[in-house]
Amino acid sequence: MRYTFRSPGRINLIGEHTDYNGGYVFPAAIDRYTYLTFEDSDKFEVYAKHFDQRVGFSLDESGVEVEWVNYVKGAVLYVARAMGREIEPLSITIDGDLPLGAGLSSSASLLVGVMYGVSVVRGAGLSRREIAKLAHEVENDFVGVNCGVMDQLAVAMGKKDAFMLIDTLRGSIEYIKTDHFPVITVVDSGVRHRLLSGGYNDRRFECKEAERIVGVPFREMTLEIIGAKRGGLGEVLYRRARHVIEENERVLRAVETIRARNWRELGSLLYASHDSLKNLFEVSIPEIDYIVDLLKCIEHVYGARIMGGGFGGSVLVISEKVLDEELVWLKGKYMDRFGIELHGYSVGISDGVKEIKQI
Ligand code: GLA
Repeated sequence: MRYTFRSPGRINLIGEHTDYNGGYVFPAAIDRYTYLTFEDSDKFEVYAKHFDQRVGFSLDESGVEVEWVNYVKGAVLYVARAMGREIEPLSITIDGDLPLGAGLSSSASLLVGVMYGVSVVRGAGLSRREIAKLAHEVENDFVGVNCGVMDQLAVAMGKKDAFMLIDTLRGSIEYIKTDHFPVITVVDSGVRHRLLSGGYNDRRFECKEAERIVGVPFREMTLEIIGAKRGGLGEVLYRRARHVIEENERVLRAVETIRARNWRELGSLLYASHDSLKNLFEVSIPEIDYIVDLLKCIEHVYGARIMGGGFGGSVLVISEKVLDEELVWLKGKYMDRFGIELHGYSVGISDGVKEIKQI
């Protein structure tokens, strides 16, 4: 038997660097996918069309030299562990149209896709939430990337035409329908996560420090509380904490603007989030700031901001109309300024991982 699954990428409308601080995030799965095919085999192996590479692996605890294979190996290993027994070998083929390293969670898409596929094919019967949790563990403990849980939840539990208001403190998810939602465009800066792991881990550490010094968890912090501790925190940690507090508020306001279909107001929240990520949390880069500044000049663009971990990746844009000649204009300006090719494409909101065929 041959089984095929598709696992989406994700966008995050607003709520950045809040997921590892017990805050709110607001992602959705998108119609750009990783496709995975599973077949019985006499050994575990994986072939990735992106890299034209075929690699065999065993289900021991050791890491593999080829980095991307660790995601696959870790995913299979953790499902086997959850089942509490050995599983029959599989040959996995990976393909897709989800850009890698562009801030659309290609790694969570791969991990969740492999786990969901193995779970179905080998009868583990894991729920989507369990898969998201296990995928998060693989990324943190096996691959060694210290990310939050937003991406895995969005890829595993996304629903067509709905954003997900996730409260990472309680683990609750509320689906907010997107009828008449503006056009969503992803503009890829072409800069690949410069310093991401270093910068991201630094921010996590700084947030922990801020929490320790203030003495209350982020969700209980207010601007007054951190204002009173500003001396102890120092300017950098004060700025980091202020971003997290205000970004959480922006997520909740964004939900209201969607309910009221107030796209201008939602757009202003996106711009405010960008300013905060640039000036307070300091995870933006000049290339991305330039793109956001140019987008501000386009009348029918409601808002834009850097998306994901930062230090490169993509800009998320919401606009009244599809960006067409505007993208050509952006591309030209960006090439002149940085000598880098820019890519932009509109995306739709999709279901989470699912099986698409069995032959
Ligand atoms: C990356 C991580 C997420 C989240 C974002 C920042 O995408 O994988 O868990 O922390 O950065 O919001």
